[in-house]
Amino acid sequence: MSEPAPVLAITGAASGIGAATVQLALESGYRVAALDKKTPNFTFQENLLQLACDVTDTASLEQALDCIEERWPAGLEALVHCAGIYRTSAAETLDLALWQEVHDINVTGSYVAASVLGRPLLRRGKGSIVLLSSIAFALGDGTEPGAAYAASKGAVVSLGRQLAAEWGPRGVRTNVVAPGVIDTPMTTIVNSQEGLGKVLENIPLQRLGAADEVAHACLFLAGRKSSYVNGVVLPVDGGQSII
Ligand SMILES: NC(=O)c1ccc[n+]([C@@H]2O[C@H](COP(=O)([O-])OP(=O)(O)OC[C@H]3O[C@@H](n4cnc5c(N)ncnc54)[C@H](O)[C@@H]3O)[C@@H](O)[C@H]2O)c1
Repeated sequence: MSEPAPVLAITGAASGIGAATVQLALESGYRVAALDKKTPNFTFQENLLQLACDVTDTASLEQALDCIEERWPAGLEALVHCAGIYRTSAAETLDLALWQEVHDINVTGSYVAASVLGRPLLRRGKGSIVLLSSIAFALGDGTEPGAAYAASKGAVVSLGRQLAAEWGPRGVRTNVVAPGVIDTPMTTIVNSQEGLGKVLENIPLQRLGAADEVAHACLFLAGRKSSYVNGVVLPVDGGQSII
């Protein structure tokens, strides 16, 4: 008898990289739990379970996990955590409300999602978690004032490395994807010709990335073919981080 299709949870699933990962995962034979705070409510059709879920809210994630386990009792095998926000503010304005919002969603959200959705993986002693950072974790950005975002994405890298060390011995791998500039609704700087020009100057491949190019990297790290990869930070950036 063939094994049942693996179950993958994807957060931030309603847009951009998350939505592309949902699509690719379905095409690749996964059963997908697609979580997003923008998702209006519960829908279930064959291999796709869509749920409203706020990743900063522990109870919301626990409810989502209950719902996933009720539908698919074999349980969760992997998480691709794409939920995140991008905000800009000149550092000297000391906008603590913006700083807090960005850290609540990008940092606390990553911690809560990995912690809650990691439980079934730890229980079964196998699984894979993929967190989304950004090349901003390592590079200063001269084009936009993104101090809060850059700091939050640095914390995501630290969290991913810590989970890789802490949970690796228990059979759960954690890796981090660090996209460059990807063509999604988050990336507004490229809406003007001037902004696009500035961005392209720094990308050896001379184009923006597409959401599905990041989705392929996420699914490689989430899946069984990366079984000996743990604790890496994989840039998907057209080479931007090497110049
Ligand atoms: N687009 C890029 O250029 C780029 C570059 C580097 C890193 N990233 C990272 O990749 C990830 C996905 O980005 P994207 O470009 O697809 O963005 P996007 O704005 O297209 O999608 C983000 C999704 O996250 C959801 N979300 C936000 N807060 C949430 C919450 N509290 N709970 C549940 N869902 C929530 C939104 O509703 C949205 O559907 C983010 O972590 C982002 O920081 C993106």
